[in-house]
Amino acid sequence: MIRKITLSAIAALGLAAPAFAAGDTGHIEDHAFSFEGPFGTFDQMQLQRGLKVYTEVCSACHGLRYVPLRTLGDAGGPQLPEDQVRAYAEFYEVFDPELEDFRTAKPTDHFPPSSLAEAPDLSLMAKARAGFHGPYGLGINQFVKGMGGAEYISAILQGYTGEEKEEAGTIFYENTAFPGGWIAMAPPLEDGYVEFDDEHANDLAHLAEDTAAFLMWTAEPKQNARKEAGFVSVLFLIVLSVLLYLTNKRVWAPVKRRDEDQS
Ligand code: HEC
Repeated sequence: MIRKITLSAIAALGLAAPAFAAGDTGHIEDHAFSFEGPFGTFDQMQLQRGLKVYTEVCSACHGLRYVPLRTLGDAGGPQLPEDQVRAYAEFYEVFDPELEDFRTAKPTDHFPPSSLAEAPDLSLMAKARAGFHGPYGLGINQFVKGMGGAEYISAILQGYTGEEKEEAGTIFYENTAFPGGWIAMAPPLEDGYVEFDDEHANDLAHLAEDTAAFLMWTAEPKQNARKEAGFVSVLFLIVLSVLLYLTNKRVWAPVKRRDEDQS
């Protein structure tokens, strides 16, 4: 898929104003994603499927302008082989300020920005939205279920009721997950919309979850490495605590023995 990003689309970047009405949040289901919890990691195959859905569907409107194309080959991500990363980059055309013109993208470029001005950039969307709030604005749900950015995206993609309305020349679609209930994005996915080479399940729920997982990775590409470093640090601190305890015992042992002899 080759597409040309117009200058006006680049100029008109920036996030679309969120149509959030205070206290009016949508309905989001919890889902056990592989990357949740202190030891959760991204599922490489799921990220590859999500990348495919993004490429074939979402990229028509939404950009990922903070994501370097080369990171598709990084460990902990979709981890495409190097030649595939290069081939994938060539799908896109990016604006080169030095040439003052568009050229075929290279792995060192970023994904292009949104080509539709009203469609927000999705690079950080999974971190910019929370799926769970409350109760009473305390956010306790997030302790239990996580922030729910991925759940929010997945719920938006599955939340369409089929109702539409037109207001001031824009068509809005009723969506049970979108705050306010009406979103200006037409339903982008349906059962079987994208097919996978390994014939992985591609009903709407699976496509939505895979896309949400991929967007979680774009928002936090180093998550696996972060959790690994955290685990090693905690392990180190535990070992250190044990050693300090034993050292403490040994250092004070003669003093304690003397006290016992005196009494
Ligand atoms: C035809 C263009 C188009 C396509 C294709 C499209 N979107 Fe959108 N999307 C939009 C527009 C326009 C908005 C802004 C809607 C609004 O603010 O009411 C939007 C908004 C969003 C939002 C933000 C909701 C929020 O909380 O502000 C998410 C998340 C999103 N899209 C995800 C996706 C994903 C994932 C795909 C691919 C499966 C996709 N979109 C495909 C046009 C599109």
